[in-house]
Amino acid sequence: MSRPIAIIGGTGKEGLGLALRWAQAGETVIIGSRDAKRAQEAAEKIKQRTGSAAKVSGDTNSAACAATDLLVLTVPFEGHAELLTQLKPAIRPGSIVIDATVPLAASIGGRATRTLGVWQGSAAQQTAELLSKEVVVVAAFHNVSSELLNAEGLVDCDVIVCSDHAEAIPVVQALAAKIPGVRAINGGKLENARIVEQITALLIGMNIRHKAHSGIRITGLPDTAYKTSQS
Ligand SMILES: NC(=O)c1ccc[n+]([C@@H]2O[C@H](COP(=O)([O-])OP(=O)(O)OC[C@H]3O[C@@H](n4cnc5c(N)ncnc54)[C@H](OP(=O)(O)O)[C@@H]3O)[C@@H](O)[C@H]2O)c1
Repeated sequence: MSRPIAIIGGTGKEGLGLALRWAQAGETVIIGSRDAKRAQEAAEKIKQRTGSAAKVSGDTNSAACAATDLLVLTVPFEGHAELLTQLKPAIRPGSIVIDATVPLAASIGGRATRTLGVWQGSAAQQTAELLSKEVVVVAAFHNVSSELLNAEGLVDCDVIVCSDHAEAIPVVQALAAKIPGVRAINGGKLENARIVEQITALLIGMNIRHKAHSGIRITGLPDTAYKTSQS
């Protein structure tokens, strides 16, 4: 049986979209929130769309961390460091923490088409610095539009997965490939997250100009480089 996926900040647009897709794929999902009631309401919304058999529940972020060792972080950058510092004691040693945070300038009242400089290099590297060395940090899902995740149908986007823990990359690729249409690609070291995070700001600018929900596709790699639901 696959392990539960806890989504920290799972009541928001991105977390809810990922939760929906994984629930539809039969995964067990725990929606995390600062407020347990809000998390339970979000879980109910997913059950309404997926069916009452969906294995989705809601709880506080810290209870969600304590319940599993596979976490996904989908919070705005302004709350990122403070939340991780609070949650650190609840995160089990050996957990995989998948960070989808983009440090948009909008977090401090700037433009969503620009990113902030993060001292560590990227939001994901900040996560690695803030959490215990026994936690495995992986960066992924930055370029996947919440609009597409929350809609029906294929998600036309590749997911670039970066981590300094090579053994965790296939685990997260397999998770990404459960989203119909997504191909997951090994993006190498965690430091590459700074590039992947920046791409989102570019996509947001394109979305505004073209009134669309863009994604990315990486071409030219051998078939074996792309993890899909079929591979
Ligand atoms: N939206 C997208 O299309 C998209 C795509 C790729 C990546 N991302 C990234 O994913 C992250 C989440 O994006 P989103 O659009 O889902 O954001 P969001 O809807 O604004 O927020 C997600 C959740 O984070 C929690 N939260 C908000 N402020 C917080 C704070 N100061 N401290 C702790 N928790 C807080 C809230 O949950 P509770 O109030 O229930 O605790 C909220 O529902 C961002 O870093 C974003 O850059 C988003």
